[in-house]
Amino acid sequence: MNARRRVKVCAAWSALALLGCEGPLSTLTPAGQGAERIARMFWWMAGGTIVIWLAVVGLAVYAVFVAPKRHAGKAARRLIVVGGVAVPVVVLTGLLIYGLASLPPLMAPAPDGSLTVLVTGEQWWWRVRYRVPGHDPVELANEIVVPVGEPVEFHLDSHDVIHSFWIPSLGGKVDMIPGHRTRLTLEPTEIGVFRGVCAEYCGTSHAWMGFSVMVLAQEHFAHWLARQAEPARSPSEPLAIRGQESFIVNGCGACHTIRGTAAQGVVGPDLTHVGSRNTLAAGLLDNSPNAFWRWIAYTNELKPGVYMPAFGMLPSDDLQALAAYLESLQ
Ligand code: CUA
Repeated sequence: MNARRRVKVCAAWSALALLGCEGPLSTLTPAGQGAERIARMFWWMAGGTIVIWLAVVGLAVYAVFVAPKRHAGKAARRLIVVGGVAVPVVVLTGLLIYGLASLPPLMAPAPDGSLTVLVTGEQWWWRVRYRVPGHDPVELANEIVVPVGEPVEFHLDSHDVIHSFWIPSLGGKVDMIPGHRTRLTLEPTEIGVFRGVCAEYCGTSHAWMGFSVMVLAQEHFAHWLARQAEPARSPSEPLAIRGQESFIVNGCGACHTIRGTAAQGVVGPDLTHVGSRNTLAAGLLDNSPNAFWRWIAYTNELKPGVYMPAFGMLPSDDLQALAAYLESLQ
């Protein structure tokens, strides 16, 4: 490969690598105050390391190509002291002070009266609860909705293993530790749909533990929360009505709650408004009747190790009816 071609290939790969930093999981396109602070820190750190790298590589190039002869003792010492000691010490000390000063605001609690969202890491999904004044808490799964422009305090815990709660576009990550509640305050600055992930290996399906994060205008958020607080609507389509019967007969209510019905199980995700969610199975599938069908019939193939047993033995009519019922839970 000639030199020009090598430069082109290098540039193409660098462009591809940078493209990988875009999108709903990016830390470099921040949409929250914490993420903006972290991104700023990243760029300062990257700048500092480039300065040190240039100083050291510059010295090496000078020593090998520009002045390859033996240097006089004094000149050599000056090069080592300036390039090898002074520049790194000054740059790294500056970055250390800047980095330490940036940390406290990232860990500050939200002001009293802020919206609080309780999130519990489960294997392998996220239980999400909102406290609603004058109402039972509203529970949903794998979906977090928050208003733009105000701090939200997340209370994080886990039943079994350590998970790590991370919404890269909004802020830093915090571990969810069994028996110990941790907190994280995030303040979204942009409306949009982002993604969250588990950032700590927690078992077989750790990689299939995502969630969606919707940042809404404040009045839309209030409307969304009021809708979530309502009980499930009764199905009206014959297929969905049959699906509801199938849901009860097959004992799905032992693990799942559908508020407003006899299904009051607390082991699995609350399904009261599951048809309205962005994704199914913690970000694994799009939300569609076909996806419900696949999930119920092939649970373990799709997410190895999951607690929910597969119901692939049900007749396909029943699977279709169940899917229609769940999709109707808007
Ligand atoms: Cu939960 Cu990794």
